[in-house]
Amino acid sequence: MDTSNNQDKPKIVVLISGGGSNLQAIIDQVGAGTIDASINLIISNNPDAKGLQRAATAGIETAVIDHRDYDSRESFDRELMRHIDAEQPQLVILAGFMRIFTPHFTNHYAGRMLNIHPSLLPKFKGTNTHARAIEAGVAQHGASVHFVTSELDGGPLVIQAIVDVKKDDNPDQLASRVLQQEHIIYPIAVKWFCEGRLSLDGSLVRLDRKTLPAEGIAYQASL
Ligand code: GRF
Repeated sequence: MDTSNNQDKPKIVVLISGGGSNLQAIIDQVGAGTIDASINLIISNNPDAKGLQRAATAGIETAVIDHRDYDSRESFDRELMRHIDAEQPQLVILAGFMRIFTPHFTNHYAGRMLNIHPSLLPKFKGTNTHARAIEAGVAQHGASVHFVTSELDGGPLVIQAIVDVKKDDNPDQLASRVLQQEHIIYPIAVKWFCEGRLSLDGSLVRLDRKTLPAEGIAYQASL
């Protein structure tokens, strides 16, 4: 019998737009007890997001807030905030959420919203990161977990997974190796946050009270 009291656990709301494989990695770690938290709500702006099925399978409440139903970014963000704040979450997780927020939204969740981005930030902000990394001829690529600020893909870094780029890699091959690492580093960062070990102090990230270097913790993939 599970005697744990869910009400004492940090509450999480996850925002998705697509496949939800990072969401799944976090659901799995919460399910296994590695992350001691409760995922209260999963919100998608895309009614067809595969991640919604993952949420349903895990028995987690979902909401679809379709940005196309709103005439401005402000009104869409307001509706998102209404749903998120109703849960009073300690942490908001962006897991492949493909919308740009207003500064009002990002300021409201300052220090309690994380994102994962498929590049070694500050390199390759924005989209098509894997193709751009190959095109640029970098030897190493990867993924970054960061606190969200009003600067797109520009918030303070928590952890980066470093993936070697192979000769003749195509974007899909590289993306697939990076995604495997995303599924490792995102749950690690979420676990740290839920344990009260990870925080944002101004623009500095602290882990166990120590200030992290600007690039965050380096996680070297053994691939
Ligand atoms: C991931 O590559 C993530 O870094 C990016 O969007 C993708 C989402 O994948 N932000 P999934 O929906 O978690 O499978």
